[in-house]
Amino acid sequence: MAGDDMVAFFDTTLRDGEQAAGVNLNPAEKLQIARQLAALRIDVIEAGFPAASPGDFDCVETIAREVAGPTICALARAREDDIRAAADSLQPAEKSRIHVFIATSPIHLKHKLRMTPGQVLAEVERAVPFARSLAREVEFSAEDASRSEPEFLIKVFRAAVAGGATVINIPDTVGYAMPGEFARFVRTIIDGAAAPDGVVYSVHCHNDLGLAVANSLAAVGAGVRQIEGTINGLGERGGNASLEEVAMGLRTRRDIYGVNVRMDTSKLVTTSRLVSRLTGVVVPPNKPIVGANAFAHEAGIHQHGVLANRETYEIMRAEDVGAEAAVLVLGKHSGRHAFKGHLESLGYRLTREQLDKAFMSFKRLCDAKKDVSDGDIEALVADEVLSVAPEHRYDLKRLEYETHPVGVLSLVTLEHGGKELSDSAIGNGPIDAACLAVRRIIGIKPELHTFTVTATSARTSAQGETHMGVGYKGIAASGRGVSTDVVEASVKAFINAVNNLYVVAAAKGVKINGD
Ligand code: KIV
Ligand code: ZN
Repeated sequence: MAGDDMVAFFDTTLRDGEQAAGVNLNPAEKLQIARQLAALRIDVIEAGFPAASPGDFDCVETIAREVAGPTICALARAREDDIRAAADSLQPAEKSRIHVFIATSPIHLKHKLRMTPGQVLAEVERAVPFARSLAREVEFSAEDASRSEPEFLIKVFRAAVAGGATVINIPDTVGYAMPGEFARFVRTIIDGAAAPDGVVYSVHCHNDLGLAVANSLAAVGAGVRQIEGTINGLGERGGNASLEEVAMGLRTRRDIYGVNVRMDTSKLVTTSRLVSRLTGVVVPPNKPIVGANAFAHEAGIHQHGVLANRETYEIMRAEDVGAEAAVLVLGKHSGRHAFKGHLESLGYRLTREQLDKAFMSFKRLCDAKKDVSDGDIEALVADEVLSVAPEHRYDLKRLEYETHPVGVLSLVTLEHGGKELSDSAIGNGPIDAACLAVRRIIGIKPELHTFTVTATSARTSAQGETHMGVGYKGIAASGRGVSTDVVEASVKAFINAVNNLYVVAAAKGVKINGD
């Protein structure tokens, strides 16, 4: 764990990040992200919440087995079943941690838990030692800590430490805290809990007021030595603290914080791109550290200054975060070895079979398209290699559309269980009509929640890449589609989202019947 001058990074992209609306990652995608987090030298990966569903359990277990380097962590409520599921899923890990949490604020106790402070304390006294009996390392979190009474929080943390927790986490669950206030609060708790050496304090800040990074940095100033957050700030509502911003804040202003980080920050841009592509959550160009424009200077006066001396306008070097363009051109004559190396530089670590499949698709793409960009390659891997192949999946076989005075008519043929199923519909455009036709074929009517269209590169020959989030009877899923025809890419994304909907429903034990 972190020494006095080391700040550890706890990444919860795969747990809290995945709770973001419209985001759902399949097991193959989660494994890719976990591998990249290990390459980034993240200290702790929170791989999931095993008690939430059998699918979550399997993902944590797979990551625990396959990913070496970081500590693998699993979340559990302060309940025996949750803790047991977390411990079981972590069995194969080299280094593991159970993360036990319970809420401590008056509002959560009254309206959510319906428990008295004494009952919450008793739960902590039961749950933490139980977790410790099953795992070498236990982290304890007081949910909504920033809105809790300091005296009660101190009591709860003392109980957690007495029960064997060695990491004490202080979440700002609803993103309510202000930096100065939060730093004082954290200091009061650390002083009051008076934990022995070896106990590490941590914060977990949400970004509802845009202050998650500022609050995390303020907490480091107050003595915490673990920061929790996600890549790209992914997460529910306003998201979580962006780990890339906290890490570069600490690195760039070492003069203030006097701490070191183990993270290999030169892998930040690659990691950000991977998470963005697999989740479908686009990174704004002006996002600090990882946005496309984070190191771009447009204004003439800035360009002049930067050319004379970079430090006039640059406080970090593009290479420190991996933002400099790594130009390595791949084409139809590139071999499998070069292709594999290039994929790794893009953050993808594939198995032999996955690599074979990706390489064949890459060769096909090279035949169809003269200039194959990194975006094309990333889209190809995400779309064809990492997408789950559910037993009864639907695949797009044919798509045609034509304009009529009353609207656009789309004719769709899907392949399903070895059979071809066709239908048509009229809509206000080809995508609308095709999605209506798909709904008729599959016999359910998922609602569209999110829809984004991007290009795989800034060229007219780029492929369209679409992401759609759908919902049906309380189940949410997302899908991705890529094609040189954006209508086809959109329909593929819709079908992929429907396939994922069945996967999510099966993992949650929900049956999807026809409407
Ligand atoms: O935001 C929060 O309080 C959490 C806890 C489970 C740590 O995510
Ligand atoms: Zn959270």
